Amino acid sequence: MTSNISPKILELTQRKLLLKPHHPLSILKQKIYEFFHRNYPNTFTTEDNFDPKVPVKNNFDLLLIPENHPSRSLSDTYYFGPDTVLRTHTTAHDFYMLSKYNAFLLAGDVYRRDEIDAKHYPAFHQLEGGRVWKLSELGLSTYEQGTKYAVEELKTTLESLAKEVFGNVEMRWNEEYFPFTDPSLELEIRWMDDWLEILGCGAYKKQVLLNAGRDEETFGWAFGLGLERWAMKVFEIPDIRLFWTQDERFTTQFSAEKGFSKFTPYSKYPVCYKDISFWVPEFFAENDFFEVVRNVGGDLVEKVDKIDCFTKNGRTSYCYRINYRSMDRSLTNEEIDQLQFQLRDLLPKQLSVELR
Ligand code: DAH
Repeated sequence: MTSNISPKILELTQRKLLLKPHHPLSILKQKIYEFFHRNYPNTFTTEDNFDPKVPVKNNFDLLLIPENHPSRSLSDTYYFGPDTVLRTHTTAHDFYMLSKYNAFLLAGDVYRRDEIDAKHYPAFHQLEGGRVWKLSELGLSTYEQGTKYAVEELKTTLESLAKEVFGNVEMRWNEEYFPFTDPSLELEIRWMDDWLEILGCGAYKKQVLLNAGRDEETFGWAFGLGLERWAMKVFEIPDIRLFWTQDERFTTQFSAEKGFSKFTPYSKYPVCYKDISFWVPEFFAENDFFEVVRNVGGDLVEKVDKIDCFTKNGRTSYCYRINYRSMDRSLTNEEIDQLQFQLRDLLPKQLSVELR
């Protein structure tokens, strides 16, 4: 099996945005850690510098993610080889943390192959927490009592965390499904007249805790959240690519002292769009196409939409519109033509599509 990780993605693994104290993602992480340390002094151990390269076993198997789950596919996940991936979530590290600590917080960059728009980027950041107890420690007798206790504690904690970060917003809990927790829940907040999902959580399944080397009477809770999603709201950052820019007009706007300050847009440069149409081969994964577009256009690609699709004589044709826009400067027609030219050269070679 050959790796599907491009050099561009490997570069991102070196950026370590969470370790830059004045980066908005890091400021948010710090605020969340502080919340837990203040409310539960000397309880949570934190970790933010684990290697994003993890065994498939930790990312999927031990978390009871089924063998045929779509998230395991080569079109969704970056594989170094058959047994190693770029973590798709920070939950991959829960086993290690649970084998050492009763309460932990951890944050890291995670990687997923995905569509392209202002909210999706192949790398993003998650913050994860877990806490466990033994039944005897709390004088409880059944596992059900433990689960109930954990879920109650978790809900109160996460509601007050959300209040601290988002202010006095309306909230609601929905039932969710995650393979490694039961029950599983998601928290939504009312934001600009919409309901916005802000985190997933639940009580660890007993098997997951056993997989982490815990005993039969250990129970507890877990949660995970996407830092970009939170940060885009609280700092008013309109495009996910901005988190990766090295432009000083972005990087100097934020500081740990200023906390949740609002982003001041420095300029909006014009968009330039180009369409590309091709006949698709028998095996075609859209995420492979997005990857080629990213590899050629990098962070100049703002959004890719499928704008047309038709079938003729048993063959299917797709047309995509690629929006190019820099966050930091004006683009010239020549450079976009050059990118589009490279794309037209690579697509037939890499994906066996036939350009139209
Ligand atoms: N790992 C999940 C994801 O990436 C998020 C998550 C949900 C983490 C529930 C948790 C949890 O720890 O309890 O979608």
